[in-house]
Amino acid sequence: MKDVYILAIESSCDETAAAVVKNGREVLSNVISSQIDLHTLYGGVVPEIASRKHIEKINQVIEEALKEAGMTLDDVTAVAVTYGPGLVGSLLVGVAAAKAIAYAKNKPLIGVHHIEGHISANFIEHKDLEPPFGCLVVSGGHTHLIEVVDYGKYELIGRTRDDAAGEAFDKVARAIGLGYPGGPKIDKLAKEGNPKAIDFPRAVVEDAPYDFSFSGVKSAVLNYLNVSEMKAVEVNNADVAASFQQAVVDVLVDRAIKLCNHRKYKKFAIAGGVASNSAIRAAFDDACSKRGIKFYYPSPILCTDNAAMIGAAAYYEYIAGTRHGLDLNAVPNLKLGERI
Ligand code: KG4
Ligand code: ZN
Repeated sequence: MKDVYILAIESSCDETAAAVVKNGREVLSNVISSQIDLHTLYGGVVPEIASRKHIEKINQVIEEALKEAGMTLDDVTAVAVTYGPGLVGSLLVGVAAAKAIAYAKNKPLIGVHHIEGHISANFIEHKDLEPPFGCLVVSGGHTHLIEVVDYGKYELIGRTRDDAAGEAFDKVARAIGLGYPGGPKIDKLAKEGNPKAIDFPRAVVEDAPYDFSFSGVKSAVLNYLNVSEMKAVEVNNADVAASFQQAVVDVLVDRAIKLCNHRKYKKFAIAGGVASNSAIRAAFDDACSKRGIKFYYPSPILCTDNAAMIGAAAYYEYIAGTRHGLDLNAVPNLKLGERI
């Protein structure tokens, strides 16, 4: 088969990103323009500002990605774009840009599910990884336990009933004054704290052994901080960070290993922004190696939002024959496995 070069675009949240990926696993360029500094001023992502910033950046980011790959639009095989889930105004910018290129250059258009992208980030650095395998996607918006049945075929097995893991990290970080985005800051501060100092709850969802709930642990942290303040007891923020992180890690590992045992997986991968957390990686590494399960995770730059992962997912969609028309629209609540 001829080499397939995908120009991929990602703009579902607060990163404007474009990449060129060869045959699904080789990244020729991966350009990310982050808006984090802008949103930090407001303590979180402001959708209106995000979409305006995407418009300002998108063409420049695409040009840079092509330049770095040493290609022009004429050289690419297809154009891929995240069309959901995400912020509608943000998604629309990427979708419009991809459609314009597909139309002007008469290239196939492939819409990609954002979570499928996160999972596929694992294919880039692990050339040996092939489905089936179990996967935990932990990001700012999602906590999904998934079986990757085949390329482009997923079974959603467990999910969060309330907050996503990343959301809990961000809210706890804000409560202890670390700012946005909180995940990396908690990760760092937790290294100086005692994970056993405070016993925060590990929620179990009744009758749903693979589901998660993080609102309880988040409330418990806020409660702990309030009570300490009322009693004028000094709080050790590093202990709070470490103990909160440990509570999240324990729950993630517990559900994932239960699933591995149940379905006899020999391979397990993690993905999404929270998958770059050092305690999560260490705990999974340990739990998987003890059970003879091969554990996969992407480099931090491929964990948080990027377009290379969209290019990897799009390659497998491309060879499976997925093509979208110029009527492709942003779908903010797109379900995994759903085709629109
Ligand atoms: O995948 P991502 O870039 O965006 C979404 O699709 O949501 O994930 C962003 C999330 C944020 O909540 C951020 O705080 C979290 O990933 N995150 C981390 C770490 N790095 C990023 N959480 C815990 N530890 C980290 N090292
Ligand atoms: Zn994401």
